[in-house]
Amino acid sequence: MPLSPADLDLVRGSVRADSVHRRVYTDPAIFALEQRHLFRNTWMFLGHDSQVPNAGDFYSVDIAGEPLLMLRQADGSVKVLYNRCLHKGAKLVRAESGNAGRYLRCPYHAWTYHTDGSLAGIPFKAGYEGTRIVDCPERTGMDEVHHVRLYRGFVFVRLAEQGIGFDEFFGESLSSIDNLADRSPEGELEFAGGVLRYMHDCNWKPFIENLHDTMHPMVAHEAAAGTAKRLWSQQPPGGKPPMAVELLTPFVEGHEFFDKMGIKVYPNGHSYTGVNFSIHSKYSDVPGYEESMVRRYGDERAHAILGEVRHNTLYFPNLTIKGAIQAIRVVRPIAADRTLIESWTFRLKGAPDLLLERTCMYTRLINAPTSMVGHDDLHCYRSIQEGLASSAHDWVSLHRNYRPDEDVTSTAVVNGTSELSMRRMYQSWLQYMTCDSAWEAAP
Ligand code: FES
Ligand SMILES: [Fe+2]
Repeated sequence: MPLSPADLDLVRGSVRADSVHRRVYTDPAIFALEQRHLFRNTWMFLGHDSQVPNAGDFYSVDIAGEPLLMLRQADGSVKVLYNRCLHKGAKLVRAESGNAGRYLRCPYHAWTYHTDGSLAGIPFKAGYEGTRIVDCPERTGMDEVHHVRLYRGFVFVRLAEQGIGFDEFFGESLSSIDNLADRSPEGELEFAGGVLRYMHDCNWKPFIENLHDTMHPMVAHEAAAGTAKRLWSQQPPGGKPPMAVELLTPFVEGHEFFDKMGIKVYPNGHSYTGVNFSIHSKYSDVPGYEESMVRRYGDERAHAILGEVRHNTLYFPNLTIKGAIQAIRVVRPIAADRTLIESWTFRLKGAPDLLLERTCMYTRLINAPTSMVGHDDLHCYRSIQEGLASSAHDWVSLHRNYRPDEDVTSTAVVNGTSELSMRRMYQSWLQYMTCDSAWEAAP
């Protein structure tokens, strides 16, 4: 069903070139429209294929309110099915992950399915003879998500039957995933170290805006990062800083540092910070790593890969990656004021273990429920959510470095404290909330 004229007006009236209406963060009706349109028309990150290494392995997750199941097939391919029994609708799998063996068996009446979703058996089937249930075309198997794309192990889905293709949607922004995977001397990644999940009692968009909000670290993170910096400055000079100090102290670099870092913006709301350098640029070498990269890629290519130290990449709307630290954060919107953030860490296949140790430490220190940095942001997001409940002023500023004639479609590099990436993100939000495929594909 297409957006009603009233919904169209609501959505279109919520975004200006240089600001957004507070209701995009607070209104449950807007969130319902995001579930039905934005999260179906865009390519959403589902998971990584290293989560399902063996035939029969599954991983279940909700996207746009739909329970989905990623399943490794016997031929090595990956399918994504709707996690719903054809009989009465029970979820076939309640666990987050596991191995189904050769069949999925519904826990309610034991209808069984092959792992490709086709129906394998119905108990006491004779009672259905002569009814339509066994020969309706739609009853031959579990529903499948048809638009699934694996890119360097990252699994994306587009739930709308019609819409923009994967390559067109992400375009050159895929270079951040390439750089992350290329950092493995074997060119492959695998999730390692588990996942850290933390619930945010706020809308999902302040989180992704924050990725490129380089005006905040030296303010919001002064307590933790500034303390680490001061403590280390009191040590005798010339020593090697501990890993934790090395990871924390760049958060209190000045405005000029972040401005010079640069932001690259792409079409469709994707972007990354750290075009010229980033907070990850000065980490200590990991013994043996550079040598293993040179052996694999040759001197020039290895140093080109390691010379890219991008800060945060946003794959609009639900994936954020940190190539230089081999970690990702996944946005799982739940309600207008409720968002689950997942922090996953990668092992670079063929790289020294110390790299994974650094990745895990970074995530624990910066991007976890127990972290010394991420909770500063969460505190501010919650504060935004409460502040925007006020009707005193309806519009939220995206003005920094705004020019009325700015290009809102082409790839561009701008100064690192510009809010161009946020403005682009909201133009993309507007486009995929209202695009033609939404009219045709929404149920
Ligand atoms: S609901 Fe699945 S077998 Fe009945
Ligand atoms: Fe932050």
